Amino acid sequence: MAREFLPAADRDVPALVSLITDAFAGPADAAEAWVRTHSLSSVRVVRDEDRPISCAIRIPMAQHFGGRPVPMVGIAGVAVSPVHRGAGLARDMMARVISELAAEGAALSTLYASTRPLYRQVGYEAAGCRFSHRLPVARLARLPGSAPVSPLSDADLPLARACYERAAPAQQGSLLRGEYCWSRIWKNRDDVFRGFGVRAGGELEGYVALRQQRKPETGHHDLVLNDFVATTPAAVAALSTFLAGFATMADDVVFHAGASHPLSLLMPHHHGGVTLHEPWMLRVCHVPRALEARGYPAGISATLALDIRDEVVPSNAGQWTLTVRDGTAKVARGASGPALSLDIRGLAAIYTSFLSPTQAQLAGLVQGNNDLLAQAGAIFAGPAPSMSDFF
Ligand SMILES: CC(C)(COP(=O)(O)OP(=O)(O)OC[C@H]1O[C@@H](n2cnc3c(N)ncnc32)[C@H](O)[C@@H]1OP(=O)(O)O)[C@@H](O)C(=O)NCCC(=O)NCCS
Repeated sequence: MAREFLPAADRDVPALVSLITDAFAGPADAAEAWVRTHSLSSVRVVRDEDRPISCAIRIPMAQHFGGRPVPMVGIAGVAVSPVHRGAGLARDMMARVISELAAEGAALSTLYASTRPLYRQVGYEAAGCRFSHRLPVARLARLPGSAPVSPLSDADLPLARACYERAAPAQQGSLLRGEYCWSRIWKNRDDVFRGFGVRAGGELEGYVALRQQRKPETGHHDLVLNDFVATTPAAVAALSTFLAGFATMADDVVFHAGASHPLSLLMPHHHGGVTLHEPWMLRVCHVPRALEARGYPAGISATLALDIRDEVVPSNAGQWTLTVRDGTAKVARGASGPALSLDIRGLAAIYTSFLSPTQAQLAGLVQGNNDLLAQAGAIFAGPAPSMSDFF
């Protein structure tokens, strides 16, 4: 029987559990619970002799670029059976996943990669970062007169979600989370997070999802934040003052975010550390949808010719004209005059503002004269893209 690429079926679950445990270690029951958090219709398998030998999971959501949510399918759980590795199976499977997403009109796909060359071969490129912060609680800013912070009950969780959704568009690269990512904010595996928020007129202005990680050797603990969201400076001040109140027994507050974060910016002196936890990679699956869905700098009025190479999705390849006005874009087939020449990976890196077109040119991802590079730089300018979520 030939190899088939298909959505998973119920009978595939035992084989999926083996694939996931062999790939990522951990107990089988945890792998099964994780597989079952996803709809099987979103799991893709390659079957050989009717048995899955590789898999990938599609997670529908959106990601903010230029202040607007762009439909994005996250990819997780990419695994090949240990006895089938090294023969191009993951590359072929991911090419099928990308072709399928493009045919469905999905604008973008994003993933955290264990190996970049695999995903580069199918058009993903490094396009943003997730940083790990560790700040001493005793050094956090305490601001007298800050707004009160109160515990969140289950009934408050929709308010927290609404608060996140008001805050997220301002953060380049942040997710418009789907149900899967939300399900991991308040409980992730065995870790349970409590909510504390700043209330204002029936809404939340900000909140944290907080867990205390005890250190038996000292009896002290760290504060682990699974979410820190603030929509106003007053909410940042209130949450910083609230967290600082743990200082007698808490050593550090640890969380993931972009390279800079309001909690550390508010600290009177520079203390604590930031390390890069994981870069993420992005794939432009559908060129016109991706370019038209994101936002652009409001003051820019420009037209840019693009000449794109894409071996996996031929419908993306060739010439396009991007016209940007009043913060939005229109894309048309064909171009006249000199065009910025770029691989689909180069488009990913400049689309998110991760690389300027000049930096992308140095990386061999983009080619064009100085005028084209400057024009593209103005169009795709934005804050450094980052994501606090991991999936
Ligand atoms: C990563 C994994 C999916 C690769 O599967 P595979 O079928 O062996 O990969 P392919 O044969 O299609 O290799 C494609 C490219 O990936 C890269 N790659 C594959 N295995 C690699 C390895 N062990 N180390 C580094 N790079 C690797 C190579 O660049 C390779 O291209 P090349 O052979 O032209 O150099 C597989 O090793 C696996 O399941 N690993 C454990 C789980 C994991 O890391 N999943 C990915 C999470 S993002």
